[in-house]
Amino acid sequence: MPSEPDKNLALDLVRVTEAAAISAARHQGRGDKTAVDQAAVDAMRTILSTVDLDGIVVIGEGEKDEAPMLFNGERVGNGHPPEVDVAVDPVDGTRLTARGMPGALAVIAVAERGSMYAPGSLVYMDKVAVGEAAAGMIDIEAPVAHNLLQVAKSENKSVSDVTAIILDRPRNEDYIRQVREAGARIALIGDGDISGAIATSKEDSGVDILFGIGGSPEAVTAACAIAALGGEIQCKLWPRDDSEREYAAREGLDLNQVLATRDLVNSDNTFFAATGVTSGQLLDGVDFGGTVVRTHSLIMRSKTRTVRFIDAIHHIDRLQDMATFDY
Ligand code: FBP
Repeated sequence: MPSEPDKNLALDLVRVTEAAAISAARHQGRGDKTAVDQAAVDAMRTILSTVDLDGIVVIGEGEKDEAPMLFNGERVGNGHPPEVDVAVDPVDGTRLTARGMPGALAVIAVAERGSMYAPGSLVYMDKVAVGEAAAGMIDIEAPVAHNLLQVAKSENKSVSDVTAIILDRPRNEDYIRQVREAGARIALIGDGDISGAIATSKEDSGVDILFGIGGSPEAVTAACAIAALGGEIQCKLWPRDDSEREYAAREGLDLNQVLATRDLVNSDNTFFAATGVTSGQLLDGVDFGGTVVRTHSLIMRSKTRTVRFIDAIHHIDRLQDMATFDY
């Protein structure tokens, strides 16, 4: 990012995820997924417009779910340099939030213009992710048992002590079966595999490796965090049917390519910010205390590998006076 090499954009981006998390968390448990997403998108878009960056949304959300979205190609930021690609997931875990379940995050990641992989309309990727100890030791094309053994070796423990985090979907049943056969433990999650991928890098999270087919946008976004954490993510595009296979062929997307962290985001300078919406393994959720609201966030930058946990106290009446969306 030649125009402003030393500025840590994540310190600005956390204001974006805090606002998105507060707005989304207002809808916790109300059963309305669209309202959760809409609130987060409105807050994110508004606060982003105050941040010094000239961003293009490369990874937006909504194609799969027709959710209210920050759409691909949308210009965000105040238009000043640096020129960046932006990956957003206003709420990773909209369903979790709508149902009042743990583990939802508001997420944004930024890196130099042109650095993020664009999966087009292929909405799913097969994924494996690990923390720093096992980075360089896994292979998405190897049997599940091999990867579990590698993780066990890297952490000097036995396979039966390894916990794999897997998105609970019928398409991931084969992973679940193979992990069970190998004798490892499983943490199934209903949603939120950005959080799951990052959790493999967090020592006290209780999970060591992520397996499974989840969203492509989430893979690129998670890669921006994993680049800062020193872990590793490997993915492969996962077409759902023949029409998606034909689409990949037309667009020159190689279904056999193993996409490593660097293929997902080709940058030495990624910025990542996430704020908890509902409490989970990674972060506590938004805590409403009358006019005072508390948020819990995680921000990082791959160039320095600094990771910060930021707890903030917000005076909503003050913020609301300045805002064009509902806090
Ligand atoms: P959203 O809340 O942003 O819709 O994503 C939740 C999520 O569970 C992601 O974490 C995951 O990558 C993706 O959905 C999986 O897709 P699907 O729900 O279609 O299986």
